[in-house]
Amino acid sequence: MRFSGKTCIVTGGGSGIGRATCLRMAAEGGRIVVVDLHQDSAQATVDQIHTAGGEATAATANVGDPAEVQAVIKQAVSLYGEIGVIVNDAAMMTFTPIVDISEDDFWSVIKVNLGSVFYFSKYGARQMPPGSAIVNLSSVHAHKTTPNVVPYASSKGAIEAFTRGFSIEMLAKKIRVNAIAPGAVDTPMLWNNPNVKSGAEKVTGAVGKPEDLAAAICFLASDDAAFVNGTTLIVDGGRLAQL
Ligand SMILES: NC(=O)c1ccc[n+]([C@@H]2O[C@H](COP(=O)([O-])OP(=O)(O)OC[C@H]3O[C@@H](n4cnc5c(N)ncnc54)[C@H](O)[C@@H]3O)[C@@H](O)[C@H]2O)c1
Repeated sequence: MRFSGKTCIVTGGGSGIGRATCLRMAAEGGRIVVVDLHQDSAQATVDQIHTAGGEATAATANVGDPAEVQAVIKQAVSLYGEIGVIVNDAAMMTFTPIVDISEDDFWSVIKVNLGSVFYFSKYGARQMPPGSAIVNLSSVHAHKTTPNVVPYASSKGAIEAFTRGFSIEMLAKKIRVNAIAPGAVDTPMLWNNPNVKSGAEKVTGAVGKPEDLAAAICFLASDDAAFVNGTTLIVDGGRLAQL
């Protein structure tokens, strides 16, 4: 029971990797704050946790909005007490070339993907005791990519640099900060990607399950990873290793 009595905030908890992480952390004793843009999907995750005998609450928020992020943190602390784990999982993609994408659409991706990591770090760390952990979701797109997803790839590359730098700032507070870079994972985000649909991005042979990622996220979030800090763990079934 690695998360017994710990308040765990998981963004994007209404689907895919985020939902699998919520379920695994709750099964290991965590009190989960399931954050999602969509109230019904966050609530569906909460319902699954309750059915399994766990503890959870839903928080509807746009994680790219600092006021909404602060409201989530306030809700989590007032309900469950100080925060032990934050998983920054929620993200979005666009599929428009840089020369055609609007400025607003470009900055929306950066704000949701990178801004959320900034806001939950800035406002969340103040509520985290020594021994707490933050896990940020990057992507293999931070390392190798395909056309038309530059805002997404940029946000993920920045998340890895943010993770490294913020981990150093948190050393004195004894809060560990790590990232996970998933490869292709069987979730709506993967199969809705037009590059995957067209075959421009090949995923054959190395598609993980959301539970595979949840296992790695829970490792980094737990004391099992007490000596792991400031790093990005690539969890892609070996996809990046193959030329
Ligand atoms: N699935 C993959 O193949 C894959 C690969 C690499 C990285 N990732 C990363 O893993 C993470 C989870 O992806 P997934 O595949 O589980 O996606 P998903 O689409 O299944 O779930 C994402 C969830 O985030 C929520 N969300 C999106 N924007 C939000 C916002 N502004 N505020 C609050 N919630 C918001 C969505 O409502 C959804 O429930 C993302 O950071 C993604 O970039 C996924």
